[in-house]
Amino acid sequence: MTVSREALMAAARTAAEQAYAPYSNFAVGAALAFADGSVVSGANVENVSYGLSLCAETVAAGKAMNEGRRGGLVAVAVSGPVTHAITPCGRCRQVLAELAVLDGSDPLVWCDGPEGVREFRLSQLLPEAFSGL
Ligand code: THU
Repeated sequence: MTVSREALMAAARTAAEQAYAPYSNFAVGAALAFADGSVVSGANVENVSYGLSLCAETVAAGKAMNEGRRGGLVAVAVSGPVTHAITPCGRCRQVLAELAVLDGSDPLVWCDGPEGVREFRLSQLLPEAFSGL
């Protein structure tokens, strides 16, 4: 049993409060729901060398993998400033795929925005994901 869309988006919004985004002032939170019911969240972590900054989705995926998860991703929620519709960047789509495509799942991706939450499948956002050599 996994969490509801509303609960996962609430977790993403809460996670955004921990963003370290002094350069963009654009705080983003991501929450990942797994098949066992667990949720792992993250927020963006910027760096004075801007290109080293990490997106919320990548932070959350890294946390999940460091906690031992190797798949089972069923849903992702992403939220940023209320004025902006958010979709994961290209790099984050491939990072998220590591927790899904390799075990044959195709997570829902819920993207927050001023006109409501949009729903995608990861395969829609990243068709033909690289899945290994
Ligand atoms: N960002 C994320 O964390 N996730 C996204 O899906 C889009 C962009 C971050 C990167 C950077 O710290 C800030 O938002 C502005 O691009």
